[in-house]
Amino acid sequence: MNATTSPHPSRLAGRSLVTPTDLSGDEIGEILRLARTFKRSPSVPQYLKGVAVGLLFEQPSTRTRVSFDVGVAQLGGHPVVLSGSELQLSRGESPEDTARVLSRYLGGIVARTVRQETLERLAGAAGVPVINALTDRFHPCQVLADLMTVEEAFGRLEGITLAYVGDGNNMTHTWLEMGPAVGMRVVVSTPPGYGPDPEVAAAARAAHPDRVDFVEDPRAAVRGAHVVYTDTFFSMAQAPDPDKARALAPYRVTRELMAHAEPGARFMHCLPAHRGEEVDADVIDSAASLVFEEAENRLHAQKAVLAALVGNWR
Ligand code: CP
Ligand code: NVA
Repeated sequence: MNATTSPHPSRLAGRSLVTPTDLSGDEIGEILRLARTFKRSPSVPQYLKGVAVGLLFEQPSTRTRVSFDVGVAQLGGHPVVLSGSELQLSRGESPEDTARVLSRYLGGIVARTVRQETLERLAGAAGVPVINALTDRFHPCQVLADLMTVEEAFGRLEGITLAYVGDGNNMTHTWLEMGPAVGMRVVVSTPPGYGPDPEVAAAARAAHPDRVDFVEDPRAAVRGAHVVYTDTFFSMAQAPDPDKARALAPYRVTRELMAHAEPGARFMHCLPAHRGEEVDADVIDSAASLVFEEAENRLHAQKAVLAALVGNWR
């Protein structure tokens, strides 16, 4: 079956989630509504009954891997976990051939690839939906869970300001594309030389000029922020680098930095965290922190993505 000729009637059914802009603001809202239903309801409709879903991981994962595995099972499907090193992909089989073959067995492919290009090649050749479970460029499933968390904490997304402070990476890119699409303001604060990809930054600014800002000074950036968000200074695909660590040191989220944000501001982080590096323990372990709510919401949000894109929810 070709992904674009899905028999499912939902507008989302049969589609892939490769980049954050694959979902419009309204579609993100639809997925978040479904995720809230799943969170409230102890009984889960079997939207994936009889469907096998591949979970392909080229890199380590705790939250994404387990939330998708459990999510597929709760929806009545069969998770097939595939570590990149076990597949012929690791010995040079092309992403295209891998995707064509896997599409003969599976109803959907959730993939964490080192490079965005590999994911796009998989999605381009697959006959089933392909879902981005993190690449060097984007992490849309994380931001869906985060948006759910922000909405729970503040009762709305529209008009909420999130300051992203730290390394300009896959999380920064994803916030720049998904936050403004649902009415949030996203302020990015990164040191010179470690900002987001200029193409992603420019596209985000062009799409929502009033909702995207770049402010180098972290104290100025968090002023008026309801949420202060950070992520590891060294992403999985990156080697440690003392110059980078030095440049990012002033961007660590401390209590002092949080005090410059809006009163009652919340702290968020996709995890895994490095206490004392990008965030202090007395911030991430404080009452202001939402990190474990975000982690829990991965399960509800991932189930919603699966039901809407791969399953027969309508
Ligand atoms: N936040 C996140 O994606 O965590 P994992 O790398 O553990 O999946
Ligand atoms: N930027 C981090 C996110 C981990 C969930 C990484 O890519 O390693």
